[in-house]
Amino acid sequence: MTSVLSIDDVKKQFGGIVAVDGLDLEIEPGELVGLIGPNGAGKTTTLNLITGFLTPNSGKISLNGTDITGNSPDSISRRGIGRTFQITKPFGRLTVYENLLVPNVSCGPTEQEARIDRLLRELHLEEVRENRADELSGGQKKLLELARVLMLEPDLVLLDEPAAGVNPALMDDIIDDIQRINKQGTAFLVIEHDMSVISELCERVVVLNAGRNIASGTFEEIRGDQQVREAYLGGT
Ligand SMILES: Nc1ncnc2c1ncn2[C@@H]1O[C@H](COP(=O)(O)OP(=O)(O)OP(=O)(O)O)[C@@H](O)[C@H]1O
Ligand SMILES: [Mg+2]
Repeated sequence: MTSVLSIDDVKKQFGGIVAVDGLDLEIEPGELVGLIGPNGAGKTTTLNLITGFLTPNSGKISLNGTDITGNSPDSISRRGIGRTFQITKPFGRLTVYENLLVPNVSCGPTEQEARIDRLLRELHLEEVRENRADELSGGQKKLLELARVLMLEPDLVLLDEPAAGVNPALMDDIIDDIQRINKQGTAFLVIEHDMSVISELCERVVVLNAGRNIASGTFEEIRGDQQVREAYLGGT
């Protein structure tokens, strides 16, 4: 089976700082993978490399077997990788519905409307359909951002800290939503510092430390790993 994402010996330096240092990471189609590690481990940099916002100094990134290293963010998103940001950025003066018209979908207007209706329903945004995006709660903004990404029907979605600033009750809904969408076939890579979210959400967890993949396994497996405890989970 061809991996949906394959990162092969990727390195990224900022001046003297090596943010990503020979990273290897594979995601299989339909997997739901957590990416954890201490502050500064290189998690967000990895997302920026995958989505073309940064270009690696060396190494190779492939999507469904096609080399996408150095491609533009626009071309990578059209090829099937969607992302949300650590800080959400909806178009505040547009309504929820109008925000979902923004992605440049390749389907016709009928299918576009059908997708919008389905996503508003699935992500509990129907009631706020005509509200301006800047009137939404922090959690609703995250759901809107996820809906916007899903308009393009990506093979892989990258989420940067979906639980940050979201109340625990809504986070339970967001976890259910991500798992349901994952079961329909979309692979996810989720960066998160909240270990209760990671343990509930992810079937596999990859641990990054100093720009390297130091462990991969179920949450229970990586929690028992000595190297991981020293780097990150010592206190839990
Ligand atoms: N644009 C940049 N210019 C210079 N250094 C950078 C840049 N982006 C990231 N870095 C450095 O690269 C390293 C990795 O940062 P990154 O943001 O990827 O970490 P992270 O794992 O996402 O951390 P956090 O959990 O705090 O969000 C850090 O030392 C950071 O200071
Ligand atoms: Mg980060």
